[in-house]
Amino acid sequence: MDIGGIVETLIYIAPAMAANGAPVVGSRILYGPGHPIDMGLTLPDGRRLLGDGKTFEGFIFGMTIGVAAGLLLLALLDKPPITASILSSAGALAGDIIGSFIKRRMGLERGVQAPLLDQLDFYIGALATLWLAGYRFDPASIIIVALVILVLHVATNRLAYLLGLKSVPW
Ligand code: CTP
Ligand code: MG
Repeated sequence: MDIGGIVETLIYIAPAMAANGAPVVGSRILYGPGHPIDMGLTLPDGRRLLGDGKTFEGFIFGMTIGVAAGLLLLALLDKPPITASILSSAGALAGDIIGSFIKRRMGLERGVQAPLLDQLDFYIGALATLWLAGYRFDPASIIIVALVILVLHVATNRLAYLLGLKSVPW
């Protein structure tokens, strides 16, 4: 199914954004550090498989909030379909996990910044998962939504800094 336009793409990616953002908030206010998905496993390169930043709690909470966001949009705008919300959320969380896997293999400890990878891993995961299920977006919209995500990232970090939730404004 070809899905056209920036707004349409944003609607399908909104569950991914919610799923990606939820674990940070969840661990801070609901369940604490959580249980690592890699169960502490260290690979022969001496680095963790994923690290302590990827937890079961984060995955479950992310799925819950991502699908809830999708259902809210569905009620308000008649899209995205529930299947797409599930795929968008699951793809985002999987992409974020793959991002951490790549960072560990590059020798970057948990929380060390990897520009672009940190901000776009969830987006690539969501797009790839939706694509596999037949939800296709046009390239121009994909690029513009990527730029929107990068701008939103800078803006939300600044806001979190001003609100005292983060110690640095990036
Ligand atoms: N988080 C989680 N479970 C997930 C994803 C995220 O618990 N599946 C929580 C963790 O508390 C994590 C925070 O959300 O620290 C922010 O996620 P992210 O920035 O992706 O993790 P980092 O801690 O920066 O670790 P990494 O270097 O692996 O990206
Ligand atoms: Mg991070």
